[in-house]
Amino acid sequence: MTINNWNTTLYDGKHNFVTKYGEDLLGLLNAQAGERILDVGCGTGHLTAKIAESGATVIGLDNSAEMLLKAQAAYPHMTWVNASASNFSFDQPFDALYSNATLHWVSDAEGAVRCMAAALKTGGRLVIEFGGKHNVGIIANAVRQAIKTQTEQDSQHGWFFPSVGEYAPLLEKHGFEINAAWLFDRPTKLEGEDGMTNWIRMFSGGLLRGLAAEAIEPVIAAAVQQLRATQYIDGIWYADYRRLRVVGRRN
Ligand code: BEZ
Repeated sequence: MTINNWNTTLYDGKHNFVTKYGEDLLGLLNAQAGERILDVGCGTGHLTAKIAESGATVIGLDNSAEMLLKAQAAYPHMTWVNASASNFSFDQPFDALYSNATLHWVSDAEGAVRCMAAALKTGGRLVIEFGGKHNVGIIANAVRQAIKTQTEQDSQHGWFFPSVGEYAPLLEKHGFEINAAWLFDRPTKLEGEDGMTNWIRMFSGGLLRGLAAEAIEPVIAAAVQQLRATQYIDGIWYADYRRLRVVGRRN
């Protein structure tokens, strides 16, 4: 899994759209009292706690110890597990597995699918959403171009943004039936005049990795300048998010 030094305050503050959009998925999850549910990539745990309001027993799993400290502090009665989404296992199987805005960070995509399949009961539900094909393509291109112009280096983003056609076979190979899948644009408002700068600082570590420390801010400034033409509309910054959403079942 990609390692990030998450700024948990920014994550819950200026980037709280991660949590807000995750609520869209809760209807599809349709958690029931008494169920056992796993939230893969629970972050600071707000959605995990919301799922638990159904009366289900919900476990939050995340690779970031910093995020889990916040989750534990906010919801001390719940169970939080520090593990990678591509390397986890539980003794007791789950009725449903939920994951929002996490699986694009997991470089071992097949490992994650294998773990998710192993964690579910037969008939268990899978409700997941993450960045889909060409997600943040405009932003990533602007950052890449700025890096190339200023340092002559090439950079790769390292995120996993599959299409339906690329991801569905992986799920089926590991024993999932797919009931519905969507790939859709979701332009996402970023907060404030520095919204794009903050987004790139918080999330583009993979692209910026390897740059000299003094090169980072000029690269971000040049990328933001380029992005202003298309991503700054009526005084608001937008990230060109595209989501891959899948609802399935473990055979
Ligand atoms: C996303 O949620 O789509 C995303 C977030 C950070 C970096 C890349 C993608």
